[in-house]
Amino acid sequence: MSSKMAVETETRNGTLVFAVNGQRFELPTVDPSTTLLEFLRSQTPFKSPKLGCGEGGCGACVVLLSKYDPVHDKVEDFTISSCLTLLCSINRCSITTSEGLGNSKNGFHPIHQRFTGFHASQCGFCTPGMCVSLFGALINAEKTNRSEPPPPFSKLNVSEAEKAVAGNLCRCTGYRPIADACKSLAADVDIEDLGLNSFWTKEHSKEEKISKLPVYDRNHEICTFPEFLKNEIRSGITLDSKRYNWHSPASVEELQNLLKVYEGTEIKTVVSNTGMGYYKEIKPYDKYIDLKHVPELSILKLDQTGVEIGAAVTISKVIEALKKENQHDFYPRDENVLRKIASHMEKVASGFIRNTASVGGNLVMAQRKHFPSDIATILLAVDSVVDIMSSHQFERITLEEFLLRPPLDFSSVLVNVKIPSVGKVLPETNTILLFETYRAAPRPLGSALAFLNAAFLAEVSPCETSDGILVNHCQLAFGAYGTKHAIRARRVEEFLSGKILNAEVLYEAIQLIRATVVSEDGTANPAYRSSLAAGFLFEFFSSLIDGSAEISNGFLNGYASTSMAKCSKLGQSNVQDYSNKIPTMLSSAKQVLELSKSYYPVGEPISKSGAAIQASGEAVYVDDIPSPTDCLHGAFIYSTKPLARVRSIKVNSKPHPDGVAAVISYKDIPELGENIGSNFFFGSEPLFADELTQCAGQRVAFVVADAQKHANMVANCAVVEYGMEDLEPPILSVEEAVKRSSFFDVPPFFYPQPVGDISKGMAEADHKIVSAEIKLGSQYYFYMETQTALAVPDEDNCIVVYSSIQNPEFAHSVIAKCLGIPENNVRVLTRRVGGGFGGKAVAAIPVATACALAAHKLHRPVRMYMNRKTDMIMTGGRHPMKITYTVGFKADGKITALQIEILIDAGISPDMSPLMPHTVSSALQKYDWGALSINIKVCKTNNTSKSSMRAPGDLQGSFIAEAIIEHVASTLSLEVDSVRNVNLHTYNSLKSFYRDRAGENLEYTLPLLWEKLAVSSSFDKRVEMVKEFNRCNKWKKKGISRVPIFYGVSLRPTPGRVSILKDGSIVVEVGGIEIGQGLWTKVKQMTAFGLNTILGSEDGDLLDRVRVIQADTLSLIQGGITGGSTTSESSCEAVRLCCNILVERLTPFKERMQKQMGPIKWDTLVSQAHMQSVNLSASTFYIPDASSSSYLNYGVAVSEVEVNLLTGETTVLQVDIIYDCGKSLNPAVDLGQIEGAFVQGIGFFMSEEYLTNSDGLVITDSTWSYKIPSMDTIPKQFNVELLNSSHNEKRVLSSKASGEPPLLLAVSVHCATRAAVKEARKQLLSWSGQDGSESIFQLDVPATMPVVKELCGLDIVEKYLKWSLGRKN
Ligand SMILES: Cc1cc2nc3c(=O)[nH]c(=O)nc-3n(C[C@H](O)[C@H](O)[C@H](O)COP(=O)(O)OP(=O)(O)OC[C@H]3O[C@@H](n4cnc5c(N)ncnc54)[C@H](O)[C@@H]3O)c2cc1C
Ligand code: FES
Ligand code: FES
Repeated sequence: MSSKMAVETETRNGTLVFAVNGQRFELPTVDPSTTLLEFLRSQTPFKSPKLGCGEGGCGACVVLLSKYDPVHDKVEDFTISSCLTLLCSINRCSITTSEGLGNSKNGFHPIHQRFTGFHASQCGFCTPGMCVSLFGALINAEKTNRSEPPPPFSKLNVSEAEKAVAGNLCRCTGYRPIADACKSLAADVDIEDLGLNSFWTKEHSKEEKISKLPVYDRNHEICTFPEFLKNEIRSGITLDSKRYNWHSPASVEELQNLLKVYEGTEIKTVVSNTGMGYYKEIKPYDKYIDLKHVPELSILKLDQTGVEIGAAVTISKVIEALKKENQHDFYPRDENVLRKIASHMEKVASGFIRNTASVGGNLVMAQRKHFPSDIATILLAVDSVVDIMSSHQFERITLEEFLLRPPLDFSSVLVNVKIPSVGKVLPETNTILLFETYRAAPRPLGSALAFLNAAFLAEVSPCETSDGILVNHCQLAFGAYGTKHAIRARRVEEFLSGKILNAEVLYEAIQLIRATVVSEDGTANPAYRSSLAAGFLFEFFSSLIDGSAEISNGFLNGYASTSMAKCSKLGQSNVQDYSNKIPTMLSSAKQVLELSKSYYPVGEPISKSGAAIQASGEAVYVDDIPSPTDCLHGAFIYSTKPLARVRSIKVNSKPHPDGVAAVISYKDIPELGENIGSNFFFGSEPLFADELTQCAGQRVAFVVADAQKHANMVANCAVVEYGMEDLEPPILSVEEAVKRSSFFDVPPFFYPQPVGDISKGMAEADHKIVSAEIKLGSQYYFYMETQTALAVPDEDNCIVVYSSIQNPEFAHSVIAKCLGIPENNVRVLTRRVGGGFGGKAVAAIPVATACALAAHKLHRPVRMYMNRKTDMIMTGGRHPMKITYTVGFKADGKITALQIEILIDAGISPDMSPLMPHTVSSALQKYDWGALSINIKVCKTNNTSKSSMRAPGDLQGSFIAEAIIEHVASTLSLEVDSVRNVNLHTYNSLKSFYRDRAGENLEYTLPLLWEKLAVSSSFDKRVEMVKEFNRCNKWKKKGISRVPIFYGVSLRPTPGRVSILKDGSIVVEVGGIEIGQGLWTKVKQMTAFGLNTILGSEDGDLLDRVRVIQADTLSLIQGGITGGSTTSESSCEAVRLCCNILVERLTPFKERMQKQMGPIKWDTLVSQAHMQSVNLSASTFYIPDASSSSYLNYGVAVSEVEVNLLTGETTVLQVDIIYDCGKSLNPAVDLGQIEGAFVQGIGFFMSEEYLTNSDGLVITDSTWSYKIPSMDTIPKQFNVELLNSSHNEKRVLSSKASGEPPLLLAVSVHCATRAAVKEARKQLLSWSGQDGSESIFQLDVPATMPVVKELCGLDIVEKYLKWSLGRKN
């Protein structure tokens, strides 16, 4: 080796070197707290990994990490969350991002192509992470020795493909198309199971379909580990610890030395840093010690004595090892236990977390910080022991002792954990070992902490003197229920040991468990958690009780009754259960649509415009725009008090970093400007609280610093001093607002009109429900891209603002007002929005304005990418409501009058809230109430301003209607469906409720949909099957429900411009913003359709030559707001009108040319027209015809659910939807809107709790506490039919809206859950000897597991055991 090379190698050995997409990066210095995501997004061109949460909970940042093992010449590839991975820990590794898999220049990867073709990308913000997650599974499947499947497929199997993205969240698609895209690569997929795509049509044969899939070519797969990096990997791959403050000890001795040396300093031992996802420490550490390279900590040894797991071994590695079949060294019962441990571990976090998260890290978090760990609980049940090492000594103690000790000091290290063998059974003893683990969590697979977890191990044997089963010994562990750490229920263990199991014994054991599993004060749902403990214990032991077929119905139905047979069956079932218990995800789906060629290419289900670059991550969102020189970053400081004087705002100098440029508040508004942060038709909201803050979550200041991380840290540590003197108490509830007459005005036009004579209607009623109440909470948007803007000062006091916003026009004028500059000094640009759902309409304006204000003041570019927590706290969300109703009805359920009062919590500013009375009442009127009187008040409170969220008001209105119908049905003990039936509108009643919006008789398709879906979903038959199921099952109940929806929309004026460039390509501008809803795609289709008539016969269509460009508020003014479901159609209509103008201009020209030249092609026509100065740019401002601009949308859904009465978990088994889309402009896009909206609705009704503290400050402010649906919580069968009705001639090419209305259909899931709960309550009452048919109850929204369980009976197992004991006596 030359001396030069030697020097080079030496230097390299100490520096941080890695590859990203084959490109080499060498960093001479780096702050060791830098994450890989921060680095990728700020220092490289690879922007496909996105920041969705920063806490490991969403998957937007997933990348592939590849490690090279030079000894075995092997590359190991696995997915990781780049938002938690520290940069120093990837030394000598290779990273692959989605653009590294393929891209627009080098060709897309088949994964990108499948996502595109299966319509699996809408806003696209989640898509690169999804693609990499799938790629990770694919590349590992390819390494197996499975046989090579034919070309379009990979070695993946369906289950792996589906699970690959289980931890990735998507807020747009509803996951079904994503599941299809993933499964399309699996070798064992049934191609007929795959849904709508742009590769084939249903007419194609199976073989043709297969041949049309983009080929997966394993021989040309990308190389994940570049050769040059392999060559660089020599023995010394550690970092220069001094330079990076990052130590990577390679032996225990070295580690011990370091611990000694650094005793008393701020050091952080780290394995994969995923713990930061939960604890989000902001404290900077002086030194990091990476434990991954200590061999003793990486041991994974399985033998007859048990399993030794080094503390740094990842959860994925443990799962893989424990699941390995035929581990001959094991006793069979060990194998069973270990498999179940592995199976439980598969529900911990998500794949991309488990791939790096260490078992030791988990246990230390549990020990030191009381993390609600699963691993501690399951390992506790099997008597695990741990080795601990401090700077001076080694120590072996039981895991239980470890957990009970005071927090492990920072100079100690957990070395390993050992699961001892449960040993072999002596043949003569006849004992059987039972082992089971449990967890109840809001999402079975998709990254959710458990409300409670448990693991039980028991040695049982048949009793020699009776028919019963003897518990020789048991070990019962519980955790995560709001306890400091997992516990062993010793008293219960002792009580059960030596007992013959019977209902009485079990009852007593459950009583003891109740006294043991007690959550600490402040834990949410303590009674629920303890009921889970009782339920799980019951589930585990009830099968062993004499007469078990009766007792254990639902778990072990119909087993033989002799104890011996029971025991041996149990032994078997213990094994069988293992596979049964892995939750399945989407099992099947069907899409029925009728395509129409009348307006070709409008009506074609073409793929979303830009889907491929969204998949590869090349699509540019605001935060992907490279920072201009000198760019600063901002973060809001918000109030934590609802109504208080802001005395001072202190940004402490420590521990916040240097780099703060300014702290901007209302005092910094220019003299000619105004403290305005947002504005809508009904009023404005200040940018910052002035002396008085009006709500918790209100902006009080804007920190501007040199990096987003620094701005966030400073904002986070800021201390706001409040004063309360001389202030009235804040208004934090609608009741208080009414007391103090605190309301916003509602323009008469938006106020609902009464229908009929309410007194007469009430007089006609046979029955009345008087003053019943419902309360509805809020919902957070959870767009995957949080609020973001970039403001760049321009010449002459101008400013350009890039904003992720649904209404740039409003932002434009607010910025001008705030800065005190004319509107022609401001330009707002919006290309695409990573999900909006209404949350980026008004709420995005202050973000853009704050950046603009800071940029204006500091004369430097300023950007902000709001962190998830702040976004969740500040952005508002859906309107909470309180509803009080009195309803009169006949004995057959026909409602004669409804009187209703609705109090809407609008928060501090009017925003869009004055529209709410109109929308709530519109959806509420879906039934013929006879007479209707609505009194709605829009309350001004000291809560954050609520804004429109997808189907604002309509969603609540639709729910209220169903709640009333259900209440009436329960009161009369009638089938709810029959009550719905008698109250459905006739066309006549429709006209009296909806007046002009009712349209023509032919347009009223709801009765048709109602009947059609009953047939296609086999509704009547399934109702009977559900009844039968409920008769036969005690611990699971099903419910089924059919629900109609009505949704009024209105078109608004919209501008458009179509310009034909010299080469024949076309550029289009529209007022609408592409927020994932497919607006650009429809606009492209419409442009191609609009210009079709001028094309020659050989020209084909122009689809591929159309580009829709970003919204620019100075180029196309009066763009308005994107929302209300009609922006796509009005933008399309504007474009169609532009095309008409162009066609009109070009036709005579073409005719003239044709006379001279014969048939003329598009390119020639255009170039000639350019030469002849024909104006090839046309603009319009489409103003909808007032008489037909508002119309109704209809749909029906049937949902069937199954409720687990022991946990309260609701599984959506099947959903059938039929929706009238008119002549769909693009059925693929509309289908995506329907499915996506429906799943978002499931979130609202079932899982999303947007909670505040008593000051109104949002407390569910992370992916840990706020649970949107994930792949494993969507309907198992999901069937959607689009009714392609052509009765809508007044609509844009006979189309109808699809963006919001289908969200309302999700109420059917809630109603079905209610039906199942009703059955559970009936059964519960019958056990207490009462008649259950009278059970009237309300099911809250969201119907979370604790809510459902509470209604099903927190003491259900006790009640049942008592009942069965009573029956026996
Ligand atoms: C999104 C998400 C979901 C999750 N869901 C679940 C879940 O459902 N159930 C569950 O049980 N867990 C869950 N976890 C927790 C996860 O298992 C832990 O974050 C992970 O195991 C920690 O491992 P790590 O290597 O990343 O530890 P690190 O983050 O590197 O370390 C965690 C802490 O332990 C210390 N530490 C690490 N190793 C040692 C050691 N050997 N000796 C002494 N101190 C040490 C570190 O200093 C740090 O304080 C989830 C985590 C995430 C991010
Ligand atoms: S951003 Fe990393 S998981 Fe959400
Ligand atoms: S497409 Fe998945 S979040 Fe928008």
